[in-house]
Amino acid sequence: MPDARINQGARLYATACASCHFSGSKLRKGRPLLTLSSATHLNDPTNLVNVMLDGVSSDQGISGVVMPAFRNALSDDEIAAIAEYLRHSAGKQPWPNLQQKVGEIRHQPRFEH
Ligand code: HEC
Repeated sequence: MPDARINQGARLYATACASCHFSGSKLRKGRPLLTLSSATHLNDPTNLVNVMLDGVSSDQGISGVVMPAFRNALSDDEIAAIAEYLRHSAGKQPWPNLQQKVGEIRHQPRFEH
C-alpha cells in the first residue's frame, strides 16, 4: 500500500471521523478505537463500508448517540481511502478491489434502519 494513499486516508479520517472516534492519543469515552473494531478485522469490508455510507441510527449502539451517514459527503475513492487507512493501521492485509466494492455496496438496495 503506497504511503501517499495511507496519508490520504489518515487525513480524511482526521477530518470526518476523529471528532467522534479515536483522535491522537485520546480515547473518546464509550467509543472504541476503530482499528480494534470488528468491522476493520473482517475478511470482507462490507460492514465497515456500510457503516460509513449509512451511519448508525439511535436504535443501534449507545442509545441517543448517532453516527451520521457519509453517503453524500464522501466519494467511493474517499471511503475506500479511509477503509484502507484503518485496515493498514490494524496491521491487516489490504482488502482487494476496495474502491470498486465501495461502489457496488453504495448501489445495493438499502434496508430501513
Ligand atoms: C458524530 C459522531 C460520529 C462521527 C463523525 C463518526 N462516527 Fe462512527 N460511530 C459513532 C457512533 C455514536 C457509533 C455507534 C456507537 C459505537 O459503536 O461507539 C459509531 C460506530 C462506528 C463503527 C462501528 C463500530 C464497530 O465496532 O463496529 C464504525 C466502523 C465507525 N463508526 C466508523 C466511522 C468512520 C470511518 C467515520 C468517518 C467516516 C465515523 N465513524 C464518523 C459516531 C460517529
